[in-house]
Amino acid sequence: MVSRVIPVESFDLVIFGGTGDLARRKVLPGLYRRFLAGQMPEDARIIGAARSDLDDTGFRDMIREAIDEFVSDDKRDPKVIDAFLAQLHYTPIDAKGEDGWDTLAKLVRKDVVQAFYFSVGPSLFGDLATRLHKHKIANAESRIVVEKPFGRDLESAKALNAVLADSFDEHQIYRIDHYLGKETVQNLMVVRFANMLFEPIWNAQYIDHVQITVAETVGVGGRGGYYDKSGAMRDMIQNHLMQLLCLTAMEPPSDFEPDAVRDEKLKVIRALDPVKPDSIVRGQYNADEDQDSYIAHSENPESKTESYIAMKVDISNWRWKGTPFYLRTGKRLKGRMSEIVVHFKEVPHSIFGEEAGSKANVLAIRLQPDEGMDLRVTIKEPGPGGMRLVDVPLDMTFADALGPEGADVPDAYERLIMDVIRGNQTLFMRGDEVEAAWAWTDPIINGWTSRGDKPVPYDPGTSGPEDALMLLHRDGRRWREIK
Ligand code: BG6
Repeated sequence: MVSRVIPVESFDLVIFGGTGDLARRKVLPGLYRRFLAGQMPEDARIIGAARSDLDDTGFRDMIREAIDEFVSDDKRDPKVIDAFLAQLHYTPIDAKGEDGWDTLAKLVRKDVVQAFYFSVGPSLFGDLATRLHKHKIANAESRIVVEKPFGRDLESAKALNAVLADSFDEHQIYRIDHYLGKETVQNLMVVRFANMLFEPIWNAQYIDHVQITVAETVGVGGRGGYYDKSGAMRDMIQNHLMQLLCLTAMEPPSDFEPDAVRDEKLKVIRALDPVKPDSIVRGQYNADEDQDSYIAHSENPESKTESYIAMKVDISNWRWKGTPFYLRTGKRLKGRMSEIVVHFKEVPHSIFGEEAGSKANVLAIRLQPDEGMDLRVTIKEPGPGGMRLVDVPLDMTFADALGPEGADVPDAYERLIMDVIRGNQTLFMRGDEVEAAWAWTDPIINGWTSRGDKPVPYDPGTSGPEDALMLLHRDGRRWREIK
């Protein structure tokens, strides 16, 4: 397979919070990998801007260390690293005051694509947006990139949207949900809309139910303070799992243009039924011999924050009425596994008789690990002795199917940042989409708070609370095993 890397046009990317964790862990190593792939032009510049009193050399040293730590050995070429670092600059800035802004204004070129990455807390969004205009740095085509959490409820999300809208048009705002940058997530759209095979049966008549799982083995670690104000509902369901649900459930957009896709996702969110309290299981992990409990990382020994959620979601539209989507996500589970699994219905009548057994088709779309797809089909068990049916996988791991380059999947951030430079918003959330997601989430969270509901404890290294198994058992279904 020949890889086709199309260089983007020249740009100046300013990373506010350029010395922070996200910039060092994801954004700059991702940009380095794009540079290595030949996608970043030689005159593009990345300008770190933060409070620390660094200069270009100090910033480059810091990013060299980040590359050593976060880029795999096979991609670290000293010459390429030097060339990449030469394109990095740094300027100290005070987001809440005027210091540093005039220097930044002189640094940023006017005749190339300008992107401003707000890798800072949302409380600074307004300050940055206003000062970019006040100091005449941004123009009508500049792009800004913001990260989740985009608000913590509908009201705060609306306020953030309003703050950004004071300075930038919607076509300039790139709200990142890094799940949309994952290779398989985009492949889901291709599988659905570039094959004749699936779309005719992609509905409640042929699909029994859908399971979406994002299981993690890590705990909240040092992020206890943030997580306690967030929980799995705000941290994972409202954004990542909701996006996966939308892409699985949406109608075919008329083209792959940003608004065509985002309009369809929005319609799905608006068609979600309110979730009844007995359709959700919340869990919180205990300690084991090796690691602390959730509570140990929380600032509140009585914390009722959930590190696990399993829920049943119904979509009230013609395509999906009667076919539930079961979502589940949790930390400190027995495996790291993210997948969307479509369980088809059984055939209406088996001509082979009951004793032959029957199996329903299952299409699993794996986001991580080993990205790929697996379709289980029913065949005859080989050998004499009558017709016995078994289901076998038609497995397509991208790495196997496409050779080494199939395995060389860019990290979500790499793709998303290049999309910002290209001016393509398809894989970014629109303001109304984020608000609709909060409008659906808020009553669920408010219900827990007003009733004083507590999450149930679960043991680390398991699949989560027993109650989550019951959620499916009572519907006569079972979760896929977390591996
Ligand atoms: C982040 C959440 O958005 O996604 C984290 O804040 C979570 O809590 C992470 O661990 C999971 O991302 P990935 O790409 O590792 O599945």
